[in-house]
Amino acid sequence: MAFHPQLRLVDAPAALFQEAADEFTRRALAAVERNRRFTVALSGGSTPKGLYSLLATSDPSRLPWDRMFFFWGDERHVPPDDPQSNYRMAFEALLSKVPVPATNIFRIAAENPDAKRAAENYEQTLRNFFHPAPGQFPVFDLILLGMGGDGHTASLFPESMALAEKIRFVVANRVEQFKTERLTLTLPVLNHGAMVLFLVSGPDKAPALREVLEGNQPGERYPSKLIRPSQGELMWLVDQAAAADLAKRPR
Ligand code: 6PG
Repeated sequence: MAFHPQLRLVDAPAALFQEAADEFTRRALAAVERNRRFTVALSGGSTPKGLYSLLATSDPSRLPWDRMFFFWGDERHVPPDDPQSNYRMAFEALLSKVPVPATNIFRIAAENPDAKRAAENYEQTLRNFFHPAPGQFPVFDLILLGMGGDGHTASLFPESMALAEKIRFVVANRVEQFKTERLTLTLPVLNHGAMVLFLVSGPDKAPALREVLEGNQPGERYPSKLIRPSQGELMWLVDQAAAADLAKRPR
């Protein structure tokens, strides 16, 4: 079956964050309308900060914060107050500034020195919340993803072990280039998202974006290529700088 991700090109980072905030709001309102709740897996790194800050400064009454439930797509193997923590970044940029109940925030407890146990614990958290049937996977209303210059997404790095995971929801993934473990949702979970939204900004992402969207390298070498939601939608929100190498640029 042909696969057609939506590609939305905006001029500059500010427009990217505004477009992402509008999409986030649309999805949240629709999910709460339909299911009385909105579940989102947040991405880490630096790009999403612009989106989180925008959501934090918009009129809080626009969103049903008490019906919104926050998870993470991945986490560094550090405590929550570490400058590297994806939880800390999202908490400081957004969650500490909006009226979301603390009980709606499900961070990955990455302070556990045993990364494998931390992954198992987060998987249990997901099972307790989503109650997937045996053999099924949690379905997030929205999964936010970024893409590294090497084509990684979440903490699914090129040629890393986690790429082969077909059963578990969360794994500890050894990332050789950083000589560290990372905790990450696995491809089955990411590909069960109802809506997967990549935010990609900046010239350093242009070569990888061209390869991911137009190249024929294997997905193991550019893991963002392996994000192909089975039922859900996939949207790439990219700015001009990141799209500079694309042959097919949307008008
Ligand atoms: C992380 C993210 C990671 C990130 C990309 C892009 O934990 O860092 O999950 O996948 O999205 O590395 O990062 P930037 O947006 O900072 O370029």
